Amino acid sequence: MNCILFQGSARKGGNTDNLLQKIIQGIENVQGNYKLYSLPDLDIHPCIGCGSCEANGECIFKDDMYDIYQSISVADQIIVASPIYFYNLTAQTKLFIDRCQTLWSRKYLLNSPAGNIHERKGYLVSVAATHGKRVFEGAKLTMRYAFDAMNCTYTDNLLIKGMDQKGAVAADATLLQKAVALGESIAAN
Ligand SMILES: Cc1cc2nc3c(=O)[nH]c(=O)nc-3n(C[C@H](O)[C@H](O)[C@H](O)COP(=O)(O)O)c2cc1C
Repeated sequence: MNCILFQGSARKGGNTDNLLQKIIQGIENVQGNYKLYSLPDLDIHPCIGCGSCEANGECIFKDDMYDIYQSISVADQIIVASPIYFYNLTAQTKLFIDRCQTLWSRKYLLNSPAGNIHERKGYLVSVAATHGKRVFEGAKLTMRYAFDAMNCTYTDNLLIKGMDQKGAVAADATLLQKAVALGESIAAN
């Protein structure tokens, strides 16, 4: 079991951060392996749509995405966590996703999908301040196609409404336990 987690909030100790730490606790409870990427701390150049990856499956930018491409290719489970910013993922998360166009090109144009040994599973974790009925729709749709580019199946999500203040989730013991349980079940799969 090889799990990778992407943290898309720049707010350290915030809600996304807290939830991911609990998911990691769950993974550790069942002796799972994981690697955590804090996206706001990484050097990820925006995709410029140059088309290079469509021709040869390689991105022209040699930055932190190179390690991420490698991790995605050997992952069994991929967890992407981001708060909702204007009805979608944060800009830092979207930078990473747009650069997955390289993986899309490998899969759909060059017949070389990432990690095609067995079915891989993708999970979305997100937090929003409001209780809007459609508040997670943009993020879910984006992740459905991003996970497909990573050659994994959007399997489940943990979506929390009505959390705004930094670390508000830390006061909700039921929610934290749910995150631990999600980590345990992800790692056990
Ligand atoms: C720029 C910005 C845009 C936001 N847009 C939304 C939004 O569209 N809908 C919503 O419910 N909350 C929105 N929020 C609130 C955050 O989703 C919320 O505060 C969340 O708990 C932050 O998570 P974090 O602590 O992990 O960073 C926004 C916050 C910021 C800073």
